[in-house]
Amino acid sequence: MSLGKRVIYKSVCLSLALLVAVAVFQRGLTPGQFLQEPPPPTLGPPEARKPSAHLANPNDFWKRSKDSVTPVPMASGAPQAWDVTTANCSANVNLTQQPWFQGLEPHFQQFLLYRHCRYFPMLLNHPEKCHGDVYLLVVVKSVITQHDRREAIRQTWGLEQRSVGGGRGARRTLFLLGTASKQEERAHYQQLLAYEDRLYGDILQWDFLDSFFNLTLKEIHFLKWLDIYCPHVRFVFKGDDDVFVSPSNLLEFLADRRPQEDLFVGDVLQRARPIRKKDNKYYIPGALYSKASYPPYAGGGGFLMAGGLARRLHRACDTVELYPIDDVFLGMCLEVLGVRPVAHEGFKTFGISRNRNSRMNKEPCFFRSMLVVHKLLPAELLAMWGLVHGNLTCSRKLQVL
Ligand SMILES: *[C@@H]1O[C@H](CO)[C@@H](O)[C@H](O)[C@H]1NC(C)=O
Ligand SMILES: *[C@@H]1O[C@H](CO)[C@@H](O)[C@H](O)[C@H]1NC(C)=O
Ligand SMILES: *[C@@H]1O[C@H](CO)[C@@H](O)[C@H](O)[C@H]1NC(C)=O
Ligand SMILES: *[C@@H]1O[C@H](CO)[C@@H](O)[C@H](O)[C@H]1NC(C)=O
Repeated sequence: MSLGKRVIYKSVCLSLALLVAVAVFQRGLTPGQFLQEPPPPTLGPPEARKPSAHLANPNDFWKRSKDSVTPVPMASGAPQAWDVTTANCSANVNLTQQPWFQGLEPHFQQFLLYRHCRYFPMLLNHPEKCHGDVYLLVVVKSVITQHDRREAIRQTWGLEQRSVGGGRGARRTLFLLGTASKQEERAHYQQLLAYEDRLYGDILQWDFLDSFFNLTLKEIHFLKWLDIYCPHVRFVFKGDDDVFVSPSNLLEFLADRRPQEDLFVGDVLQRARPIRKKDNKYYIPGALYSKASYPPYAGGGGFLMAGGLARRLHRACDTVELYPIDDVFLGMCLEVLGVRPVAHEGFKTFGISRNRNSRMNKEPCFFRSMLVVHKLLPAELLAMWGLVHGNLTCSRKLQVL
């Protein structure tokens, strides 16, 4: 084993052992029982204890709760539950004969071979998440191995609220996941994830590989899910799992917005050019996108949109071919709707200062006045959260809201 691999292996084993230990402590189970037997559904935090929680098959939800749930009128023709149950999509081998395809890098070939596969089954679902009056739904792109980031978010900006004040409804949080992209990670991490979801009840997982190019799949799966299960949510914040978010600033910003507006606000890039340098993470070959610039789009680190617009986006995105960069793809969907994303100073998805070594990037007084800041590791997030919400004296008040 290489040193790097050994370190990763060690830390995986360590977190596994920790989780088991916590579980054993909390439930009085033997370590053997933890991995074999799912804990009875009556245990767990109150939010996760609701009868309809943790149903892998969304159809069960509608069958079981027929008496207690009044059916929502389906004006939009959305299905009443996740309706994709098999992942039966084969590669489009037609492409392999084309010279332009043969000249592409392997990961672009992989993307194009499966580009037509748009929807996959759900592995973990929470149809109950939007029951009641939900004002702000916070959704976080996450991957199975980043348990510590989810934990830090749950303790900070992901904390749920029954009411956000001013007669407005609840704030709820969900994490969006695919499956582990490395074979050796899959079995163990999946079990841990299922357990984590039993504790917190805040994970949506679909049966596609969590790879960089599949982030666009995550986008459309979430929009479809929202259309089915959260048709009445007022606003949605969608962000990365390594950002700092100020929910109180988000709520202050939203206070004089109406959910009917076509609100889509974030760190917006105008006329960004596709990157043609091959060693860049965002490199796009001309064969995939030939225009000189992208439509306006908001950086995926964090953006805010109205619930009604999100539902229309779902339908608009269904008419757009999948694109390997998720935030650009969403810009393409917005273009179909003729909606322009709005830039806001408080969204700093490239850091407060683009100069990474700048002291401003660690200055709590700046963070206090921002809506979203990229990019913080879990320990940094917890520390910054503590500073911003502690006895902070700032010499001057920044006005960004
Ligand atoms: C999956 O696709 C294959 C070939 O396209 C077909 O033979 C098979 O019946 C399909 N399975 C399901 C469950 O749809
Ligand atoms: C494959 O290519 C042939 C010939 O160009 C075309 O007729 C056929 O529809 C293609 N099949 C798919 C699945 O795209
Ligand atoms: C996306 O996920 C699907 C389903 O798991 C997989 O077949 C495909 O290879 C993935 N695409 C990329 C580009 O990773
Ligand atoms: C904040 O300041 C007050 C008064 O100076 C003090 O009583 C309190 O303990 C401080 N809180 C924190 C978290 O430092």
